[in-house]
Amino acid sequence: MAMGAAPIVVHLLLVLCSAAPASAAANADPSGRPSPTTKFREAPQFYNSPSCPPPLPPSAAASCFPAALVHVAMTLDVAYLRGSMAAILSVLQHTACPQSVQFHFVASDAVPYLNDTIAASFPYLSYRVYPFDDSRVAGLISTSIRAALDRPLNYARSYLARLLPSEGDGCPRRVVYLDSDLVLVDDILTLAATPLPGPDTVLAAPEYCNANLTAYFTPTFWSNPVLSMAFAEGRSRQPCYFNTGVMVIDLERWRAGGYTGRIEEWMELQKRMRIYELGSLPPFLLVFAGRIAAVDHRWNQHGLGGDNYRGLCRDLHPGPVSLLHWSGKGKPWVRLDAGRPCPLDALWAPYDLLQAPFAIDDS
Ligand SMILES: *[C@@H]1O[C@H](CO)[C@@H](O)[C@H](O)[C@H]1NC(C)=O
Ligand SMILES: *[C@@H]1O[C@H](CO)[C@@H](O)[C@H](O)[C@H]1NC(C)=O
Repeated sequence: MAMGAAPIVVHLLLVLCSAAPASAAANADPSGRPSPTTKFREAPQFYNSPSCPPPLPPSAAASCFPAALVHVAMTLDVAYLRGSMAAILSVLQHTACPQSVQFHFVASDAVPYLNDTIAASFPYLSYRVYPFDDSRVAGLISTSIRAALDRPLNYARSYLARLLPSEGDGCPRRVVYLDSDLVLVDDILTLAATPLPGPDTVLAAPEYCNANLTAYFTPTFWSNPVLSMAFAEGRSRQPCYFNTGVMVIDLERWRAGGYTGRIEEWMELQKRMRIYELGSLPPFLLVFAGRIAAVDHRWNQHGLGGDNYRGLCRDLHPGPVSLLHWSGKGKPWVRLDAGRPCPLDALWAPYDLLQAPFAIDDS
């Protein structure tokens, strides 16, 4: 940047920032309350194609509908709401049966606001918000390298089997869990139909057997034979890294195996002796690596947020794409607002439901 231009650019940024409280509130402050000017527009209505079952009735307090074709679980919070809204829109837009998808949202804070915001933007949705008590995990969390990974809600995915009602009440046996920083560009029915070979397979996720699993755990872990044995016992296959941002979970098998408790045991241990670095992922690896069903890599083109240290832009992995995932430090809405998007952020932008407070002339 030319030195002479700097003061003008800085001035312009200040003007833009002070004039755009909506996006600042929606993005910047993880603990902050939404600004009253944060507005999301209403998503278009999407209709089932003729081959689908009859539509689920729209509801903001849906009990479980056995007629639902897919149950989707996501977390909702103020800081990542813009991402969640885009993710929901992308699910509806690319499935043949949008009116047969039931959503299960887990939220710990600002529940009425989040509930109302979803209802306003998706008036035709069948969903329910499940309040999650942060204190359930707060005491189990140890500090990781990136503060965002330590938010208690980040651990809610380990509690889905306890939060969602069980099969006896007509509730889902299987859910697709999705992170808030992704968009689908393919039919979620295909992802949800991933086989979970019985009777022991609890979850399916895209696996990466070339990733070095060693690096996710500390020397303390590997030098302790009792601990590192965890990866040798009860694994039907080679333990491989997998990302927990996209998972197909059999809730009945999860409950039967007591997996929430098993994950909590590793978190307890982590509090006492540091055995891994990154937030909620390593306990999942400890419990499930080598015991999951593989999902095609097209369903988690991950890492688009850039690396955790420098926030560099990433490219797509080779192969087809059904889901784009901005895991890592950078989020597309933050970079777009800052006027410094990565090239692939342009693929997220069409799903953005935030109503711009004013039109920015991008000359
Ligand atoms: C969300 O809103 C609906 C309708 O207004 C209400 O029935 C439901 O109880 C709300 N959910 C929560 C968790 O507050
Ligand atoms: C895996 O990571 C560990 C520790 O970070 C390193 O010592 C080892 O050489 C790596 N292995 C491979 C195959 O890269």
